[in-house]
Amino acid sequence: MTTGRAPGKVILAGEHFVVHGAPALAVPLASRGVEVEVERAPGAWDVPADVEQHLRRMLGQLEVDPQALTLRLSTDLPVGAGLGGSAAVAVALVRALWPEASDAEVCTRAHGLERLAHGNPSGIDGAVATFARPVWLVRGEAPEVLDGAPPPGLWVALSAERTATRDAIARVADFASARSARFAAMLTEARRLVTGSRAELLAADWGALGATMDRVHALLVEVGVSTPALDGLVNAARGAGALGAKLTGGGLGGAAIALAPAGLDLGPALRAAGATEVIAP
Ligand code: MEV
Repeated sequence: MTTGRAPGKVILAGEHFVVHGAPALAVPLASRGVEVEVERAPGAWDVPADVEQHLRRMLGQLEVDPQALTLRLSTDLPVGAGLGGSAAVAVALVRALWPEASDAEVCTRAHGLERLAHGNPSGIDGAVATFARPVWLVRGEAPEVLDGAPPPGLWVALSAERTATRDAIARVADFASARSARFAAMLTEARRLVTGSRAELLAADWGALGATMDRVHALLVEVGVSTPALDGLVNAARGAGALGAKLTGGGLGGAAIALAPAGLDLGPALRAAGATEVIAP
């Protein structure tokens, strides 16, 4: 048996706009991830039902015969929640199949597999799942792995709704073609905000990063990928004293994140606002 592991991810700034050329900044969600064990011999599969079909399509693209494998997959990342679950499956699978592969090779293969899930992915999810470190990504360029740690007070709250990332990406593409001048101005602002978020992360300036997250959320609302439930979580976190909050990932359901000052428990406020699950820092 060979084993591959990959963490989930949280995008601090730049989701959606990264698909259109802005940078994105994401950090690993170290407490959640995927583990795949593979033996290259026919045998039983122990895989969650909601992942199996996707896994078979990935193996098809990798030209690996599923019948020739014994496979076990465990995950505590909710599917379609904006936390990088499909990228983590791809990275963990590639690592289990080719344990000798370099990080760069894993990242490239996983990006190819992400096309099955998202159609037009930027590669940020797979890069964070591969390197398990904060990552700066400009589409079409090699990911830059950053020094520094994820913010210490980062809370994640899940809403009940789920939408495929490819549908959320399509919604933004519709906005971009229907309101091209406004979208161009938003892209310029997104570039500025994401660039700021990188400096704020590296300087551990959580107050400034929180303010940036608030502004990024406003852009995501305008572009049409937030929901009343996500806005409710974001507002509840801010009301409870968070330094900033936003949806994270594809949106249209999925997760919101909030940055809290040290020692502040956002759990009760997030649950009262309807979070189906809260992941504490
Ligand atoms: C999904 O986690 C992030 C998006 O920007 C899509 C992508 O970058 O591939 C919405």
